[in-house]
Amino acid sequence: MEFVEIDWNSNLYSLEIELRARLLRTPLGLTFSSEELEAESAELHFALVDKDQVRACAVIVPLSSDLAKLRQMVVHENYQRQGLGSSLIRQIEPTLQHRGFQKIELNAREEAVNFYQRLGYQTVGDRFMEVGIGHWKMYRPLDQPARHV
Ligand SMILES: CC(C)(COP(=O)(O)OP(=O)(O)OC[C@H]1O[C@@H](n2cnc3c(N)ncnc32)[C@H](O)[C@@H]1OP(=O)(O)O)[C@@H](O)C(=O)NCCC(=O)NCCS
Repeated sequence: MEFVEIDWNSNLYSLEIELRARLLRTPLGLTFSSEELEAESAELHFALVDKDQVRACAVIVPLSSDLAKLRQMVVHENYQRQGLGSSLIRQIEPTLQHRGFQKIELNAREEAVNFYQRLGYQTVGDRFMEVGIGHWKMYRPLDQPARHV
């Protein structure tokens, strides 16, 4: 499994979009608009790739010089609960740290809060609704060691 940064609009980007659409959007009756995808050219795309297939991916939005937002985290349905999601985040974090980011924030779907907590992320604020699903804002300062529960 290779950790890669995906170029926007590349072949791997098409596979990333296919995976994200199928697992994150279609179940909610949503699609990606061309405007949304165009805006993603300013974002960073990371993935675990095996045999030219995207098995896990996540998008990073640089919010400021030291704060990054992680969004659209997903693992292929045949590969979930096998450590890929954790592995992807553990490789994204030092990559961002090397680029000067000090903190990651994200909006976690309720069912994924435990996953992020195990990686050292903490909830902040109150539960809120987004695309009809309960969410929690979570963050992690990158200079603190990840908590392994
Ligand atoms: C949530 C997701 C990204 C986690 O990635 P993953 O590769 O499956 O997770 P890992 O194997 O690294 O899990 C590590 C630990 O996190 C916890 N965890 C992972 N998925 C979980 C879930 N759905 N519910 C509760 N705990 C979960 C478990 O403690 C797990 O350890 P275990 O399998 O030994 O019990 C992935 O399952 C996924 O893509 N789910 C569907 C889309 C989604 O919900 N994305 C997140 C949007 S915020």
